[in-house]
Amino acid sequence: MTDLQDVVDSVHHDLAARIGEGKLADYIPELATVDPKQFGIALVTVDGKVHAAGDAETAFSIQSISKVFTLTLALGKIGDGLWKRVGREPSGNAFNSIVQLEQEKGKPRNPFINAGAIAVADVVLAGHLPKEAIGEIVQFIRHLSDDESIAIDHNVARSETQTGYRNVALANFMRAFGNLNHPVEHVLGVYFHHCAIAMSCRQLAHAGLYLASAGRNPLSGGSVVSSSRARRINALMLMCGHYDGSGDFAYRVGLPGKSGVGGGILAIAPGKASIAVWSPGLNENGNSLLGSAALELLAQRTGWSVF
Ligand code: DON
Repeated sequence: MTDLQDVVDSVHHDLAARIGEGKLADYIPELATVDPKQFGIALVTVDGKVHAAGDAETAFSIQSISKVFTLTLALGKIGDGLWKRVGREPSGNAFNSIVQLEQEKGKPRNPFINAGAIAVADVVLAGHLPKEAIGEIVQFIRHLSDDESIAIDHNVARSETQTGYRNVALANFMRAFGNLNHPVEHVLGVYFHHCAIAMSCRQLAHAGLYLASAGRNPLSGGSVVSSSRARRINALMLMCGHYDGSGDFAYRVGLPGKSGVGGGILAIAPGKASIAVWSPGLNENGNSLLGSAALELLAQRTGWSVF
């Protein structure tokens, strides 16, 4: 039987010489200040065992990985009604592209591109104040991770609020098409803050466990979503979780995954484990360069694949 700690250690060891490769996400100025020479891996099995290597305890900006959790909350609120507002097809475009939004009358292709996640934030707002919706998202993630210490990095939230011109454009575009129900500043307040949540690989792997375990959190024993919903969220992660790099990630890794421009990736091996990797340097699609390589090696060495 494969010793998972050996696998995690060997993946970290074999990639250590490449730490620092890739480019920081400098379009959010605060993310450009992160030390690029960091690399962590944490794997939590469905029976609750944790295997970690490298900087697995260092908190980083989860950015778009938060969209998995806001999608879960939005589906909990309005179920399949969400698909009237957001599609579930890969976009084949960059995460912050506006091109399809005009062509497709303000309906974003999927919940993980920025426009889609902004529409999801509008659903999570549900008539409440931004701080209430942000509080709900943070509480949900703390519950999933069983860790009350998880918090928003307010420097990152402020940095993106000051410079997120593309997101402001996307949100106004959707509002013009009638696909946002709340004021643009409120929706973006929720969006920028959930993107700025900081978590370690270990906390993130723990939070994703419900997707590996048929919708249940095996550590608390509680049900988070139905098994069919967990399967569907995994399907969306596989098809759309790496934007215009989703096909390449599916080809190389073969597992559902969601990336963030902070350099993190959450990957799910259904029935087996939730895995979080982090290294801040990004590839040309805005996905962690070393993180993708680590998951490719890990999938090879465990034999895990959804195919
Ligand atoms: O809206 C943005 O651009 C960021 N807050 C999130 C983008 C992101 O993480 C894309 N992921 N690879």
